[in-house]
Amino acid sequence: MNTTLVPAQGDSPAKKGPASPPAEFRPAEREAVYRAIHSRRDVRHFRPEPIPDDALARIIQAAHHGPSVGFMQPWDFILIKDQGVRQQVQALFHQERQAAACFFEEPRRSHYLSLKLEGILEAPVNLCVTCDPTRGEVVLGRNAAPETDVYSTCCAVQNLWLAARSEGIGMGWVSILKLPQLRKILGIPPHIIPVAYLCLGYPVSFEDRPLLETVGWRKRLSLDQLLHFDGWEAGATADSAWEGFQEALESISGAAADQ
Ligand SMILES: Cc1cc2nc3c(=O)[nH]c(=O)nc-3n(C[C@H](O)[C@H](O)[C@H](O)COP(=O)(O)O)c2cc1C
Repeated sequence: MNTTLVPAQGDSPAKKGPASPPAEFRPAEREAVYRAIHSRRDVRHFRPEPIPDDALARIIQAAHHGPSVGFMQPWDFILIKDQGVRQQVQALFHQERQAAACFFEEPRRSHYLSLKLEGILEAPVNLCVTCDPTRGEVVLGRNAAPETDVYSTCCAVQNLWLAARSEGIGMGWVSILKLPQLRKILGIPPHIIPVAYLCLGYPVSFEDRPLLETVGWRKRLSLDQLLHFDGWEAGATADSAWEGFQEALESISGAAADQ
C-alpha cells in the first residue's frame, strides 16, 4: 500500500496542518490596510529618535514576506547606521542631484534644486535592498521575463513601506544615486543589483499628500483616464459589463474629493 502523503495533483494544499487564518478581514482590519496604503508617504524629514530593534525586525520581516517570482526571494538587505557610510552615500546623492538638474529647463531646474529629496543623514537607519538574479537555478515563471526578479524585489520594498507606515515609521526612497559608485561604497558584488536605497526613521509628519504634489511639481493623475476595458484601444468607452464598476469608482472618487 502506498502510504506517502503526496497529494495526487501535486499542488493541492495538505489536508492537515496548522489552522489557516480566517479568509475574511474584519472591517476594522480592512480599514487599517487601506489606511496604511493611503496615508503612506515618501518621507524626507526625520526626527532623530532611533527605531526600536523590534519594530525594525518586524518591518524587515514584512519585506521578506513579499511575493516573488517562483518564490525566488531574490532580495538581500544591507542595514546601515554607520555615519561614514551614510556621508559617502549623501555625497553621491549631491553629485547626481546636480547632474540631473541639467535635464530641466529654468524655472523648473531651480524648483528641482530647491526640493529636499533625501534624508540620508537625518534618518537613523538606511537600508539598501538588492536583487540577486542568480538566486535559484531555473526559476519558475521567470523565463519569459527575467526582470521579474527586480519586480519581486520592489514588491518586498512596498511591503516594507506599508509595514513601516503601520509602525508610525517613515520611509524615503532615494534613487538619485549612480549605481556603480553605490556598489563600491557598500561593497556589493558585481552580479547583485542594488534596487532600492531607503531612509527609515520617525517622520516629522506624515503629510496628507505627496510632497511633489504639494509643491506643484506634479499632480495625481485621474484614475478614470488610466483605465482600459478589454484591451488598450477598446478601452475608451466601457460596455455595460463595466457600468457597476465605473459607478462604484465614481462614488469612491467623489468621497475622496470631499475629504
Ligand atoms: C522607485 C522610486 C524612486 C524614488 N526616488 C526618490 C528620490 O530619489 N527622492 C525622493 O525625494 N523621492 C523619491 N521617490 C518618492 C516619490 O517621489 C514619491 O513616491 C512620489 O512623489 C509620491 O509620493 P508619496 O510616496 O508620498 O505618495 C521615489 C519613489 C520610487 C517608487
